[in-house]
Amino acid sequence: MLTTPLTKLLGIRIPAVQGGMQWVGVPKLVAAVSEAGGLGLLTALTQPSPEALRAAIRETRTLTSKPFGVNITLLPSINPPDYEGYARAAVEEGVRIFETAGNNPGALIKYFKSNGCIVLHKCTAIRHAKSTERLGVDVISIDGLECAGHPGEDDIGGLVLMARAAKELKVPFIASGGIADARGFAAALALGAAGVNMGTRFMCTVESPIHRNIKDKIVASTERDTVHIFRTLHNTARVYKNKVALEVVAIERRPGGAKFEDIKDLVSGARGRKVYELGDPDYGIWSAGIAVGLIDDIPTCKELLERLEKQVAEIIGGLTQVVGASGSCPVSNRARL
Ligand SMILES: Cc1cc2nc3c(=O)[nH]c(=O)nc-3n(C[C@H](O)[C@H](O)[C@H](O)COP(=O)(O)O)c2cc1C
Repeated sequence: MLTTPLTKLLGIRIPAVQGGMQWVGVPKLVAAVSEAGGLGLLTALTQPSPEALRAAIRETRTLTSKPFGVNITLLPSINPPDYEGYARAAVEEGVRIFETAGNNPGALIKYFKSNGCIVLHKCTAIRHAKSTERLGVDVISIDGLECAGHPGEDDIGGLVLMARAAKELKVPFIASGGIADARGFAAALALGAAGVNMGTRFMCTVESPIHRNIKDKIVASTERDTVHIFRTLHNTARVYKNKVALEVVAIERRPGGAKFEDIKDLVSGARGRKVYELGDPDYGIWSAGIAVGLIDDIPTCKELLERLEKQVAEIIGGLTQVVGASGSCPVSNRARL
């Protein structure tokens, strides 16, 4: 048992959250994570409308009776989605756990808190974490430079970011970005986190809805196989380093730089979605974190979380010997894991 303020607050067995993932966070995966003892999160904007989100929530309930939540990601957009409509639909369907992410979450957080919900806010900087803490969020999920998707523009890796969070925040925080195995999980707990948030690792499980080819591609990849795009547009995103991503980076590096218009077609969400449907890793842009270098299998969520639970306990147990009186250095779990 790994008991932390997160497991107590959410009523889950393992302090592991499956972060919102566009096109990936669908009922089958969410229910599998929750059934296995973690917290699954439906990604609201993967559903085409608030009504479709209602249906997805109902479907998830048919698959698990354990707690699960909904992620709402606020993206810079010319025609913003109906965030309020998604939020209202989820609250009306009885969802009481939300992950917010992105810019200006104040109104949503206020709405969720006034409806008695638990709110995890995902951000990438201590200053943003502190301002959402003042808005009354229950948990901060903080993403280091290693993460898939948007790491912000500060380039602070998890080691420093988590230690800063432990010093600065009053509410519990969970560590996100680059965590895919028990070593990272145990390290996050040692840094003061109440749990971990994982994206790329859950993307490469049996229940993840993406094409098998993409899972195999993740397994075959190393930590050098992702790249940052949109750097020059100050909206950095870590994605898989494929032909399209490298083309985007090349356009961004042209003399005079790039406007969003110049790369819009290459990076379209519709093309990215096709990657998962067709199993062609070069069809479009797809999010992946450097944790791809740590992933070498495609387990069920149950296998994954049981393994992590056991190995994290072993690592923490091993570390207690470091402070023992024997003078030996027994931290050699390298061979076993
Ligand atoms: C395929 C994919 C799609 C993602 N989509 C979203 C999203 O829509 N909203 C969001 O807040 N985070 C999104 N993320 C980020 C994850 O929720 C999580 O913060 C991140 O993956 C953590 O880093 P890791 O991949 O190293 O575990 C996505 C990640 C992946 C891998």
